[in-house]
Amino acid sequence: MNTLQFKDQVALVTGAGQGIGYEIARQLALAGAGVILNDSDENLAMEASERIRDAGGECIAFPGDASDSGTVQGMVQEAVKCFGKLTIAIANAGITLFGDFFDYPVDHLKKVLDVNMVGTFLLTQAAARQMRQQKSGGRILLMSSVVGHQAHQYLAAYAMTKAGLEMLAKNLVLELSPFGITINTIAPGATLTERTLHDDPTYSKVWSAITPLGRPAISEDIAHAALFLCSPHSGHITGQSLIVDGGWTSVSPLPDLSNLQDGPK
Ligand SMILES: NC(=O)c1ccc[n+]([C@@H]2O[C@H](COP(=O)([O-])OP(=O)(O)OC[C@H]3O[C@@H](n4cnc5c(N)ncnc54)[C@H](O)[C@@H]3O)[C@@H](O)[C@H]2O)c1
Repeated sequence: MNTLQFKDQVALVTGAGQGIGYEIARQLALAGAGVILNDSDENLAMEASERIRDAGGECIAFPGDASDSGTVQGMVQEAVKCFGKLTIAIANAGITLFGDFFDYPVDHLKKVLDVNMVGTFLLTQAAARQMRQQKSGGRILLMSSVVGHQAHQYLAAYAMTKAGLEMLAKNLVLELSPFGITINTIAPGATLTERTLHDDPTYSKVWSAITPLGRPAISEDIAHAALFLCSPHSGHITGQSLIVDGGWTSVSPLPDLSNLQDGPK
């Protein structure tokens, strides 16, 4: 890929103070895009954008709750005010609240729905309105998960939101395509980030053991896929979900094959 292939592009990334969102924001900025970096944790947003600027990228922090409609409108306006337009919007902010279905608290359910779905819907709407007005197309990317495709214990609420985002992208193909706006999702598998490592210090080891490619993803793996889906090279791809999981979702549990008559012994 051309190293400055995002020159003249303006991107907005939510939940980008750390982890996957940060890496996407960093790679976009270093590839020439002007970036608005959002995170609900103000310190994380400020520090992350400063690190990107120190590395030579153009990046402006926009702290705030990405599930709040005022904050979302504000981010889009900030992109226009600082860089003159918005061409790429990435709804990355998402939370994972594990819990047994039978005892899942309603406040957890509402929080997961609010951040993962309402926030993503509002950002998509605000960004698409701006892009439609600009009349030069655009790229919208939603952050799903492999659990939007495949069951995972204790993640019923989270999985429901991620599957919902996949359908949102598919559905909006009808309304966004006439304006040259593409919308896709990325479905990361287990990804090594500050959060996943904090939640489980053995994260890398346990996921390496069950991932066909032998390791969990790192944020760079997801960011490379994101940059492709935001680049001019993906111009005819829309409504799709790109799974980045080292092969995990391709495999289902196998039965005992030791009695197979013609199989390898
Ligand atoms: N890490 C994984 O294994 C994995 C796998 C599949 C999907 N995902 C998805 O990728 C995205 C990023 O995941 P991550 O692991 O990098 O997350 P993370 O928890 O490491 O970072 C997310 C950031 O979002 C911020 N945030 C949380 N709620 C917010 C809100 N309402 N508004 C603005 N910012 C908010 C947090 O402060 C944090 O800095 C999420 O949507 C997640 O569901 C992650």
